[in-house]
Amino acid sequence: MFIESFEQIKKDFDFTEKDENRIKELKPIMEKYKDEFVNRLYKFIFKLPNATKYLNNEEVVNRHREKLKEWYSDLFSGRYDEKYFEKLYKIGEKHDKLGIPTHYINATFNFIRRFFIEKINQEFGYSRERNLYVESLGKLLDINLDILTKSYIEEEITKYAGLSKLERKLLKVSNRFANFLDLILLMALIMMSFFVIGLFIYDIYEVLTGAVSIEEGIVKTLGSLLILWAVAELMGEEIKHLQGGNFPITAFISVALAAIIRKILIVSLSPKDSKTLLSYGAILLALGIVYYLITKKSKKEGIFEH
Ligand code: HEM
Repeated sequence: MFIESFEQIKKDFDFTEKDENRIKELKPIMEKYKDEFVNRLYKFIFKLPNATKYLNNEEVVNRHREKLKEWYSDLFSGRYDEKYFEKLYKIGEKHDKLGIPTHYINATFNFIRRFFIEKINQEFGYSRERNLYVESLGKLLDINLDILTKSYIEEEITKYAGLSKLERKLLKVSNRFANFLDLILLMALIMMSFFVIGLFIYDIYEVLTGAVSIEEGIVKTLGSLLILWAVAELMGEEIKHLQGGNFPITAFISVALAAIIRKILIVSLSPKDSKTLLSYGAILLALGIVYYLITKKSKKEGIFEH
């Protein structure tokens, strides 16, 4: 539901009848760029990392392209009444329900603004007229963005407002605690990486002092490097998680893979340990299958060749 009336929203953005008339003047000029708009917008949207998670098959894409054309026509219709605002709100609600990040909507609007400025510049050159068109269309685009992202904000507010005082407090405390645990994890990983660097230096020391053969020394050093790489990966993912991203389970599997590969490298040096080598091989195969299945599933959900 709207908090402000659509007339008030127009007033807040200083969007007057003059602006409406200017946009109506733009309508016949912009009509010829509709197809180019949708094609270029789609190129832009598909560069967003997870766009294919939402626009995940040809049918949805085609429907969306048609809807974008409709939105484009409405934008230049010159009729910005209650019906227009309600339609925008519903579009916002749909994106919100699909879980499309507001960041994507904001970024896409930035592209849309640049597209329109490019076309107005092409048509009117650098003139006073051009400035007035850019100004009026800019206001309308900002109103669009405001309404499209309104339902996102309202949903957050209603979710939060629906909680009791105690629940809100509990939510805050548990959030802080979860962040604290994440920080401890990160610190533990930093400590861990120092140990692995120590192990790496020790491996080199053993080769230099002749405590182990060169062949064994090189294999052990490579194994430590592998573990160091896995710890760095884990740290990178944990940092992303602290910044609000998801933690991929595959990060843990890569660490386990690195550890097993290191073991295999070491055991492979002694021909007597063939049974141990076989069991490590079986673990490696199992981990590899799990890793493959998880990445295949996330690819299916996230990547759609267009
Ligand atoms: C910011 C400019 C955008 C505009 C103007 C726009 C416009 C629309 C419109 C008009 C609809 C139909 C809503 C309805 O059925 O009620 C829609 C649906 C949808 N939009 Fe967008 N969209 C935009 C950005 C995006 C982005 C960035 C994504 C994804 C990365 C996206 C994904 C979708 C999807 C998946 C649907 C549902 C399609 C279906 O199954 O019918 N949109 N959009």
